[in-house]
Amino acid sequence: MDKFVVRGGNPLLGTIKVSGAKNSALPCMAAAILTEDEVILENIPQVRDIETERKLLASMGAEVELGYGRAQHRTRIKCGILSDPVAKYEIVKTMRASSLVLGPLIARTGMARVAMPGGCAIGGRPIDLHIKGLEAMGAEITYDHGYLEARSPNDGKGRLKGAHILFDKITVTGTEDLLMAAVLAEGETIFENCAREPEVTDLAALLIAMGAKIEGAGSSTIRVHGVTSLHGTRHRINPDRIEAGTFLIAGAISGGDLNVDSCDPAHLGALIAKLEGCGVRLDVGKDCIRVRSGDSPLKAADISTEEYPGFPTDMQAQYMALATQMEGTSVVSENIFENRFMHVGELNRMGANISVQGRTATVRGKSPLQSAAVMCSDLRASASLVLAALVADGETILDRVYHIDRGYERIEEKLRGVGAQIRRMGDVFGRK
Ligand code: UD1
Repeated sequence: MDKFVVRGGNPLLGTIKVSGAKNSALPCMAAAILTEDEVILENIPQVRDIETERKLLASMGAEVELGYGRAQHRTRIKCGILSDPVAKYEIVKTMRASSLVLGPLIARTGMARVAMPGGCAIGGRPIDLHIKGLEAMGAEITYDHGYLEARSPNDGKGRLKGAHILFDKITVTGTEDLLMAAVLAEGETIFENCAREPEVTDLAALLIAMGAKIEGAGSSTIRVHGVTSLHGTRHRINPDRIEAGTFLIAGAISGGDLNVDSCDPAHLGALIAKLEGCGVRLDVGKDCIRVRSGDSPLKAADISTEEYPGFPTDMQAQYMALATQMEGTSVVSENIFENRFMHVGELNRMGANISVQGRTATVRGKSPLQSAAVMCSDLRASASLVLAALVADGETILDRVYHIDRGYERIEEKLRGVGAQIRRMGDVFGRK
């Protein structure tokens, strides 16, 4: 199992480039199921979740070429015949976003068989809202040996039907999954209380380019007029706002002068406002942000995670690493997932002073951090440990970095390019 070895203390200097958004790329790849034509996606990040999605689509009979036409970040997908519309447990268990194929599979083939995702480290993460929405559109759902089987009306021969769907709770992949089901449904579908994340808007832009009729993506009400077929297209994935945010914090925590390039500052509003409030100096350009700190101490500030455009839960762990370096007490409230504080124990082992009560963590700063052997537990928790290691005294060893490889493209190479001392090791303890 790969590890990172990080020696802290170097301020990050120079320009670091942001990749395409994993969380946009995943639904956009699933959207290719909706047409038998070729869909070309640009700016696809080279991360493990994308390789998992490639395997998933290929296992159903799709042609998927990552790095198409010798362009590393271009992907070609052609779902000519989907001979096996099944998302197998072996794949779903490693990537919960596999449930995103449910809506497009039923819409295109009339049937889908998808392994039920279990809980994961950050919480139970049910998909009941996806299922409820599909049922409202006329799908018949049955369960069998851990699999969910869905059929469109008339035993899979008819089309899904437009419906009025009010989400009880805002769900990002739920909105995306049902949007993909609705574009080929008969009649109009109105969704209320939708997720407004930029990844939903990105997916809608792709679907519209494929011939779908969608209004209101990016707002809480989305209207879809179903069409009978979609065609191929070419689409460029948005920059990854979470990777960009992680780099902003890397610049701030290391006391550097870092230019975070190829990002979309419009998607980072809540984080930018919070960092500026703490005393981080940011120069926001059209597609880049320069981050500087180090002159004066950072001031503690509370955060409360919310759906977009609020403070993203996917930035909570990274912010907490920075909060350990602020003067004063920051209260961090996690409102989206019930168990998203697994980085706390590891940050405390590095010398942080963080206490957790329910969904609230209290960070008392500023704490000098020390290197330690730490364990990555999920994607964003791992990022927070890398950030802490950048300022820790000595050499931190991060175990299980496969979590970080799920969603960050060669993060160690990018950080090394701006002066961090970080290297990947096959297995520093010589274990298998
Ligand atoms: C997506 C992101 C993830 C991010 C999260 C919240 C992708 C691939 N993943 O995950 O990185 O952390 O949004 O911004 O885009 N819920 C239900 N029933 C459902 C669906 C969700 O109760 O059917 C609950 C979840 O357990 C959670 C909340 O709703 O408490 C929000 O989850 P959701 O927005 O669906 O997260 P994901 O789409 O899985």
